Amino acid sequence: MGKDSLTLTDNRTNKTYEIDIADSTIRAKDLRQIKVTDDEFGMMSYDPSFENTASCKSSVTYIDGDNGILRYRGYPIEQLAESSSQLEVSKLLIDGELPNEKELKKWTQDIKDNNDIPEELIKIVESFPNNSHPMGVLISLIAALSTFYPDSKNITNERENYLNICRLIAQVPILAAYYYRHSQGLKVVPPDNSLSYAENFLNMLFEGDEKKLHPNLVSAMDTLLILHADHEQNCSASVMRNVGSSEPDPYSAVSAATSALYGPLHGGANEAVLEMLNLIETTDNIPVFLDKVQKKEVKLMGFGHRVYKAYDPRAKYIKKAADSVFEVTGTNPLLDIALKLESIALSEDYFIQRNLYPNVDFYSGLIYQSMGIPTEMFTVLFTIGRTPGWLAQWKEFLADKDQKIARPRQVYTGYDARDYLDISKR
Ligand code: CMC
Repeated sequence: MGKDSLTLTDNRTNKTYEIDIADSTIRAKDLRQIKVTDDEFGMMSYDPSFENTASCKSSVTYIDGDNGILRYRGYPIEQLAESSSQLEVSKLLIDGELPNEKELKKWTQDIKDNNDIPEELIKIVESFPNNSHPMGVLISLIAALSTFYPDSKNITNERENYLNICRLIAQVPILAAYYYRHSQGLKVVPPDNSLSYAENFLNMLFEGDEKKLHPNLVSAMDTLLILHADHEQNCSASVMRNVGSSEPDPYSAVSAATSALYGPLHGGANEAVLEMLNLIETTDNIPVFLDKVQKKEVKLMGFGHRVYKAYDPRAKYIKKAADSVFEVTGTNPLLDIALKLESIALSEDYFIQRNLYPNVDFYSGLIYQSMGIPTEMFTVLFTIGRTPGWLAQWKEFLADKDQKIARPRQVYTGYDARDYLDISKR
């Protein structure tokens, strides 16, 4: 084993540079010393979409995309999905360790004690047209929370941060449920502190509907929240950190992260999958649809991932959760299309060569739909699940002495200086 460094020769100048390697990475800033003339800015790396750039050191979530491995704080996702609960996983992500009984009890109580939605916010919920997309509503309501908790901008105060973390985990599902009830013309159902996190959420949506509150459905909801809780430096987590880096309150940063999640290439894919399955309509239409995918006219939503180049372990687990829901609700008629679509796609060269497999969003929508949740609410459920992960990433960011305000560089490709032309001469 040689030295932990890289020797680079700049063929423009024949100068040689030695750059340190740590954790199989080099510091991009070390490239700056590479210049042709002293007055030059120095070399940068160009990495649109951050395909090969680590933006932080993190100990929250580990993904091995080639082998389909996902772990929160070292614990395999399969074990957490099987044995843990949303609130226990949240505490694990945010604080780094599984809580003992006393710690979990306190954490659960702290979340419940912070579930008082400000009265005026309920009026804001009711002021949205009842056909608004719930994600637009949720993004606005989360941002609005910061106006009710102005001390939340004291982000160097750990006690304050803890309080706002508890409020966000407690209140995001309540806001989502309140808007759902409003959109259906129903009276809101306040949170019930005797229920678990997942059951309380379903109860706020469907109070009185025993079938929709069946233990299998509650347990599947809990599992889905766990599976969505964190996924290291994805688009929305990066937004959480980037927005957090200018040091606003956490509500503003979570609202921004929610906006990033909304798009169909990220969390919005679960809604897009359902639309796609409805459009395909019958299994007979699958070959024509896949032909369009291969001609790049459309995307196969719920397939592919920047990091996973094998089966997404969450998708594998979601299929299991689906079975226990379908036991109660009967099978979803779109399931046949999804299963056939998956099996044909996985056998075609286009998908094999590009390592495209189903991701977490391919089957989650089918479960939500069978639970009676409207399609537009699917990404809202992803938001509820992901909020603890964003907060864990934010907390880690605040403690990281390496971090400053996020501010990428650019390679300027525009005009050199030119003179302003009067409008009559253009
Ligand atoms: N359907 C058809 N072709 C695809 C798909 C797809 N879903 N995904 C990737 N490809 C092709 C892509 O066209 C490219 O082909 P080529 O090499 O010929 O140019 C190749 O596969 C590599 O894809 P890429 O676009 O470079 O991959 P990426 O890492 O930039 O994008 C992705 C990842 C998730 C945005 C993309 O796979 C996608 O758009 N999938 C559909 C949307 C989706 O399901 N998103 C949810 C992601 S999982 C939930 C979450 O964590 O957000």
